[in-house]
Amino acid sequence: MIITRKNGLKGTISIPGDKSISHRSVMFGSIAEGTTTISNFLMGADCLETIGCFRDMGIDIEVTDELVTVHGKGLRGLTRPENTLDVGNSGTTTRLISGILSGQDFDVTLSGDASLNSRPMKRIMTPLNAMGADITSVNDNGCAPLLIKGSKIKASHYDSPVASAQVKSAVLLAGLYGDGPTSVTEPALSRNHTELMLRGFGAKVESEGTTATIYPPEQLYGQDIIVPGDISSATYFIVAGLITPDSEITMTNVGINPTRDGIIRVCKAMGADIELNNERIVSGEPVADITVRTSKLHGTEIGGDIIPTLIDEIPAIAILAAFAEGETVIRDAQELKVKESNRIDLMVNNLVPMGADAVATEDGMIIHGGKPLHGIKLNCKYDHRIAMTFAIAGINSDGEMDIEDAECVDVSYPTFFQTLEELAK
Ligand code: S3P
Repeated sequence: MIITRKNGLKGTISIPGDKSISHRSVMFGSIAEGTTTISNFLMGADCLETIGCFRDMGIDIEVTDELVTVHGKGLRGLTRPENTLDVGNSGTTTRLISGILSGQDFDVTLSGDASLNSRPMKRIMTPLNAMGADITSVNDNGCAPLLIKGSKIKASHYDSPVASAQVKSAVLLAGLYGDGPTSVTEPALSRNHTELMLRGFGAKVESEGTTATIYPPEQLYGQDIIVPGDISSATYFIVAGLITPDSEITMTNVGINPTRDGIIRVCKAMGADIELNNERIVSGEPVADITVRTSKLHGTEIGGDIIPTLIDEIPAIAILAAFAEGETVIRDAQELKVKESNRIDLMVNNLVPMGADAVATEDGMIIHGGKPLHGIKLNCKYDHRIAMTFAIAGINSDGEMDIEDAECVDVSYPTFFQTLEELAK
């Protein structure tokens, strides 16, 4: 994919469904009694892996352009898959499904692509095995493939060393099968979609500060869910609208859950012209329309509790920083090293050859903005967020941005390049 400079991005776009919420809606629908309908489901590769896994475990899932319909079989209704479950590139599928599989009465092996199979899984194996689960890393390297032998789950408390919704969710989902309440405390509050949606499915889930507690339910019950637009996907167009000259973009129906809205807070801190309208609650999640206009931005400092609320947006924030006046410091973001790629290294190693003043630190990066950038041949290591981030940088750079493996955007935003084209018309 070749990207060149563009000006005047204008228009109103709808943002595809939230990836985290789409995954959860299929997972919880599958282990609920009755039918769950899901509209605005994200038809990205990651969420389709989740559908594939539950189909392989005997769940009938119908997919049309308009609606995903899950014919759930209740908490004990999954059946042993014939083959290894394929989790593709999806960390969310792997870690959340591991919680569910811990408490079944059959054994499963799950495995993904090379990137997925090199990501850390000890972070879920440790708490789940402490609850009585039996999960082993097949190659004994703390990564997938994982062999999960269904076990009796003991209620427990886990003090998580990391603010990760995937770890929290794995423990809470195993806790569905526990012999009493299970709780997780995390160092800072991560996205709470699991807690909100499990409540919608009829489970008792308490949240107090950074602790979430699940009480094992008799059953979960199918729901009709409308998935909000993904703020992580909206972020590319928020950034594009702010840094591209003569632009005004409105994104409708975007999820603005406070555990996900760090990007909006950072934009405001950097002096952005960003407006939220029509705020409302849809399927238990706060949603708004977001409008951005070209803005003169200045640097900022980001660290501490805000990090989990914008963890997937940090690559795009680095681009905002490169186009802002002055210094931006990003701290406490060491989790970026274990995402689909090492996102600290990949950002800095591509920004510098573009002409940016960016250095990697132990837990983030420091960027001095305002330098003119030029396009490069980008190797995004098949990381969808890196590809989209540099596409936005590319429309504001001299020369050509040549993105290899650009099809990896299918993981979370299959229509990304098309939408970018439409806004530039
Ligand atoms: C996700 C949680 C985050 C995020 C990922 C999706 C989720 O990961 O980076 O893209 O759906 O729970 P961690 O919870 O591991 O930080």
